[in-house]
Amino acid sequence: MIDDKKVLFSGMQATGNITLGNYLGALKNWVTLADEYETFYSVVDLHSITVRQDPAELRKRARNLLMLYIAAGLDPKKNCIYYQSHVSGHAELAWILNCFTYMGELNRMTQYKDKAAKHADNINAGLFTYPVLMAADILLYQTDVVPVGKDQLQHLEITRDIAQRFNAIYGDVFTIPEPYIAKTGAKIMSLQDPEKKMSKSDENPNASIYLMDDKDTIIRKFKRAVTDSLANIAYNEEQPGIKNLIDIYSVCSGKSIEDTVKEFEGKGYGDFKLAVGEVVADKLVPIQERFHEYEKDKAFIDSIIKENAEKANYYAQKTLRKVQKKVGFPDKIR
Ligand code: TYM
Repeated sequence: MIDDKKVLFSGMQATGNITLGNYLGALKNWVTLADEYETFYSVVDLHSITVRQDPAELRKRARNLLMLYIAAGLDPKKNCIYYQSHVSGHAELAWILNCFTYMGELNRMTQYKDKAAKHADNINAGLFTYPVLMAADILLYQTDVVPVGKDQLQHLEITRDIAQRFNAIYGDVFTIPEPYIAKTGAKIMSLQDPEKKMSKSDENPNASIYLMDDKDTIIRKFKRAVTDSLANIAYNEEQPGIKNLIDIYSVCSGKSIEDTVKEFEGKGYGDFKLAVGEVVADKLVPIQERFHEYEKDKAFIDSIIKENAEKANYYAQKTLRKVQKKVGFPDKIR
């Protein structure tokens, strides 16, 4: 609790282009929940280097992502939007938590297995202990709730296990966080292969809608989306392509799944795809416009980066000092 408010933490990696999946599964919910909680939204650059990055590119993408958080509707005066690398407590707590995490637990992480298969030439220790850093991010702020997409659930579970293990030894040190997964939109699928999740790292640009895609591109990508030959707009597992488009339309329009299906009953896929493209563009274009405004305001963004890093550091240090004391590190001489 901070000032009688529960704490929310979440983060996103600045690797690749942010997709509609990231927006609908996470960012959009962050904006909805922002007023209710004391919030920390991090650009998790420490996580990004588990895969080799071009330094200049990473720096640019990290800043763009930070501006995108704001452009999506998070007021940076009320929400603590900051770079993970500006708060050393993340790495310090991650080290301590590493000593309370088992190899066997990390071995079971599906994201690790996927990434290790994809980057077989660089299976580094950071990739393996990635979920521990994520646990540190969350536990550092005594977080109550973590809004994420479905793919992060396993990491939330290990975070809870680590926290419970630590608390069982040292008393009530950490708040046990709960995931927040939206009913619709928590797993947006690829437009080219609806059995696969939409992903920033997909090599086929037609598989994903990027948050910065212009309206024509958005509509063109939806037109090309892989569906089926049943010519029937229905919500079921046998039609994963159409199901995904219904999900997207439903979250972007605010209409229920049932109402969406009714609205397009008997219509052709072409008309439906166009409608999905339009409703998505209506959501994304205003965000893009605000983004370009912030891009011009370097001084404002710099001041946000500085102020919020100080705020995040303040709360991070509170938890870190408590943890260091519990594990037996000597007090600093002041
Ligand atoms: P990342 O950067 O891969 O994704 C950011 C957020 O977007 C969600 N997401 C999706 N939601 C729906 N459909 C999709 N296709 C889709 N793809 C991605 C993710 O679930 C996530 O919420 N490890 C995290 C970042 C992180 C973090 C944290 C998150 C680091 N520390 C602490 C929460 C709390 C990641 O790589 O997310």
